[in-house]
Amino acid sequence: MRNLKFVVLLLLPILLSSVLISSKSPPVQMMAALVKPGVFRHVTCLNNMYPRSGVLRFPVAEEQVFWSEPYVEYCPPSYTAPHIGGQVWADAPLPSETFQPKWNHNDGQVNRESFHGAYEIKDGLPRNPIGRTGLSGRGSLGRWGPNHAADPIVTRWKRNSNGEIVDNAATGKNILQMVAIQRSDNRLWAIPGGMVDPGENVSATLKREFTEEALNFTDNANMVEKFFTEGGVHIYSGYVDDFRNTDNAWMETTALNFHDEDGSQVGQLKLVAGDDAANVRWTDVGSSLKLHANHADIVREVAIKRDAHW
Ligand code: BGC
Repeated sequence: MRNLKFVVLLLLPILLSSVLISSKSPPVQMMAALVKPGVFRHVTCLNNMYPRSGVLRFPVAEEQVFWSEPYVEYCPPSYTAPHIGGQVWADAPLPSETFQPKWNHNDGQVNRESFHGAYEIKDGLPRNPIGRTGLSGRGSLGRWGPNHAADPIVTRWKRNSNGEIVDNAATGKNILQMVAIQRSDNRLWAIPGGMVDPGENVSATLKREFTEEALNFTDNANMVEKFFTEGGVHIYSGYVDDFRNTDNAWMETTALNFHDEDGSQVGQLKLVAGDDAANVRWTDVGSSLKLHANHADIVREVAIKRDAHW
């Protein structure tokens, strides 16, 4: 008993400090809870033809995704789309004498850190933290390693013509609606997000992408500015099961929810598709929602947080 008290006293400062640290900044593991390396297996970037190329991914069965699982025959083709060469948003080819990126590091211009902790460097190239994709090189992604995006999930409550909130008959929960865009690259509906530009801060990306893709720069700039500045709720930071991922380049995102509780702000705006969005609309949120990559899993977190119908 005495020994137990002694151990507790000894451990108390450590326990307290870890509680204090976690209340300040959520630990990476918690932020990336939807996708955990070693648990989550990607599916979208497997066993298909790489988009806009004639390159077939090397076969990878579900149980061969993790690097920890032996796969001696694994010999993925290498592909980097020719159109990314020389683009300002893209890295130089590797290996290179002059281009020596600082892996797992954010230099303020390019964030090469992953939300899943330090990724491995194998034969001079970053290794996808989730596992094999059947393709090496960068595909059509600009950066080696993580390519950071930001996704604004803009929501309002669904209302009838009298302005009353509509609930779902089965769950009895109110129905959320989100702004979804139809991507012009794969024609799938998605959150209107986009890539974080060099040196850009994620909150600027969230607002910029929404304005470009869902409002096509229409007026109401002040209201949109205020709506975004007044706060978003952090939903997810981590890997995205994107169709463009390769063994050496992959998508990660930071998703925030911007909610118009009484539908008087962005909830009122006329949506106009712009930039790389083919269409835009308010979409009911629920378990039948099918979206690009693992966006539906991210939206589900919003429904849970707002105690909405799913
Ligand atoms: C999109 C983001 C998405 C990311 C990963 C980007 O092209 O704009 O919405 O989260 O890709 O799929």
